Amino acid sequence: ALVSMKEMLIDAKENGYAVGQFNINNLEFTQAILQAAEEEKSPVILGVSAGAGKYMSGFKFIGKMVRALIEELDITVPVAIHLDHGASLEECVQAIHAGFTSVMIDGSHLPLEENIELTKRVVEVAHAVGISVEAELGRVGAQDSGVITNPEEAYAIPAECEQLVRETGVDCFAPALGSVHGPYKGKPNLDFDRMSQVLELTGVPLVLHGGTGIPTDDIQKAISFGSAKINVNTENQIATTNAVREVLESKPNLYDPRKYLGPAREAIKETVKGKMREFGSSNKA
Ligand code: G3H
Ligand code: ZN
Repeated sequence: ALVSMKEMLIDAKENGYAVGQFNINNLEFTQAILQAAEEEKSPVILGVSAGAGKYMSGFKFIGKMVRALIEELDITVPVAIHLDHGASLEECVQAIHAGFTSVMIDGSHLPLEENIELTKRVVEVAHAVGISVEAELGRVGAQDSGVITNPEEAYAIPAECEQLVRETGVDCFAPALGSVHGPYKGKPNLDFDRMSQVLELTGVPLVLHGGTGIPTDDIQKAISFGSAKINVNTENQIATTNAVREVLESKPNLYDPRKYLGPAREAIKETVKGKMREFGSSNKA
């Protein structure tokens, strides 16, 4: 069933597990993630970035494709379609019109007051139609840097987090605390001290971006400090590409795309199932 993130994240936070957001990039990603969720009996969040939206013929098509797959694959677990790193109110409204059940407004590059203003407007529109909202403060590092070099510049400030959550009424909140998008160079340096302060001050389910490559003990710690949603994209991209590479290298004369896209899809499914077990969301649907 299609739902917003609100209830699933409240349940996750209360019961000490996290729901995975797995980004979709094409049909095979979407099939694999939905089937993994059904087999694991896990709630799931399908993340859609603006770039992936463009690649997949737009938000409207994605809204229809996900609904069609839920019906044809007999998916019974809770599924949210979530705009990942929404850049503007307009983009969030487009996603909502296309049938997304959740949006992220990422105003983390803006000064605090402007981030709050923008997030407030998105919450107003989204909540009026039962759509959940995620906001962000601080900077999640980019993959080219691989590490956060200046924590004071990049890490979210707990008092600011409290103000943003209180003034906007968001359903969940992503404080940047040292995670990066893409592979980590070395061990991630997550600020759990601040994470516990942010949890204490805001009380809402927290979101951990850059879930690829975070060791299990850090995942466990993050969950214990209120991270109820963990975003994973790169790990599935790596798994699927490795599978394609393996098939093509071992069978240079192969030409049927189903012969490499099938294993690629299987690799995503296995990766997602592993994450669901690691995050503790298996058998929680
Ligand atoms: O918003 C998407 C995520 O934060 C994905 O991060 O590609 O490092 O797994 P990742
Ligand atoms: Zn992210």
